[in-house]
Amino acid sequence: MDKFVIEGGCRLTGDIYVSGAKNSVVALLPATLLLDVPCIIDNVPDISDVTICLDILRALGADVERLQEGTYRISTAHVNKTEVPPELARKMRASYYFLGALLGRSHHACAAMPGGCDLGARPIDQHLLAFETLGAETTLIRDRGSDGREFVDAVRLDADALTGTNISLNVVSVGATMNAILAAVKAKGVTVIENCAREPHIVDLANFLNYMGAHITGAGTHKIMIAGTDTLCGNDALEGSVEERTYSVVPDQIEAGTFMVAAAATRGDVRIHGVIPYHMRDIAERLIECGASVEVVENEDGEDVCIRVYVEENRRFHSVNIKTEPYPGFPTDMQPQMAALLTLAEGQSNIIEQIWESRFRYVEELRRMGAHINTTMDGAIIFGVPALHGCSVKACDLRAGAAMMIAGLAAEGTTEITEIGHIERGYSHIVEKLRGIGANITRV
Ligand code: UD1
Repeated sequence: MDKFVIEGGCRLTGDIYVSGAKNSVVALLPATLLLDVPCIIDNVPDISDVTICLDILRALGADVERLQEGTYRISTAHVNKTEVPPELARKMRASYYFLGALLGRSHHACAAMPGGCDLGARPIDQHLLAFETLGAETTLIRDRGSDGREFVDAVRLDADALTGTNISLNVVSVGATMNAILAAVKAKGVTVIENCAREPHIVDLANFLNYMGAHITGAGTHKIMIAGTDTLCGNDALEGSVEERTYSVVPDQIEAGTFMVAAAATRGDVRIHGVIPYHMRDIAERLIECGASVEVVENEDGEDVCIRVYVEENRRFHSVNIKTEPYPGFPTDMQPQMAALLTLAEGQSNIIEQIWESRFRYVEELRRMGAHINTTMDGAIIFGVPALHGCSVKACDLRAGAAMMIAGLAAEGTTEITEIGHIERGYSHIVEKLRGIGANITRV
């Protein structure tokens, strides 16, 4: 059984680099299905969700070439299938982006219901609402489990044509906003998507598609407008240039936030490079409330911007209240990591989780390390303790796993984390990166 072993108590110090965003690249890769020319994507994180996306692209008939670490050339000219292999679709949440991308490309798509972290109910009704509003017919393919209960096993989409229209989402959903963009970008006419999510990865998807010739405005606001286009070949290609366009994935806000919290929790002094400080402001504010120093540092020519997180040795953290919200609020994907830090704060911290109903499975694991936490209907109350002690814990899901790493780094003694496959779905070279700033962590 693979596991991480952490000897806690090392103060993290030095420089660490953030990779491309998981939640962006898992949409950009399916989006290449909409392109009429090959493209190169770089700053691609080395995580298992990317491996699955690339396997799906290959299975559909795409040519995927790894040019170097983190850089791929993708040509979808030979794609001739519209069904995502079910065993691959079930391995990750973001496989649902192949539905929007295949629908936009071929007007047909079929994919098994997505897998990914178990955070409670994860409906896709808003995705289907967007597809249907654009003119697709949805067929839910049902099956029966061993207990005799019926469940939706897969979704099939078919459209004679996709026509631009007004899509009003009932729920602010990252996935539904991204899928609506993917399906609408080549539709006939103008699509207006209302009540959109505003996360940095939505802006990144729009930037990528616009770079390849799409007409998307308003990404990053609640209202996105798309003037449909027949071809997506990159403006240079339209002007006769044969040069392939290279697009760099936006830095990972959540990976950067995880490093910021790890730096604070170990009372360290760490410079986190490759971040967009604007994306980090809510996380930074909460850390400052805890008593950490957080500053944006620029080198003289302004080319290298990093965030420095610094906490004096032996400092006790202040308690903080957190309520998760869609961007630009405090991200649900940072809630478990922040909770790990708050187990060491003086006094009582209250956490309210508004996005996912089952995001507190990590609480039991932190309790085993000595944390004092009570769960409530929609949150947790943390009573800070002076120290955590290492023991054997599991990564219940991706961000819960990140919380275990932070707790292990800050704890006294040895922490063993099992089920690390969850962590490796979303954190690129995490062991090497943390060792680079002084963590005593090994993968065994
Ligand atoms: C994405 C992220 C995930 C993050 C989440 C919220 C990816 C691959 N995953 O997930 O890491 O935790 O955003 O920031 O980018 N909802 C519906 N109907 C739908 C869709 C969503 O009711 O059709 C609800 C969900 O139950 C949830 C809320 O909307 O309560 C937000 O979900 P959503 O933003 O869609 O999350 P994901 O895109 O799945």
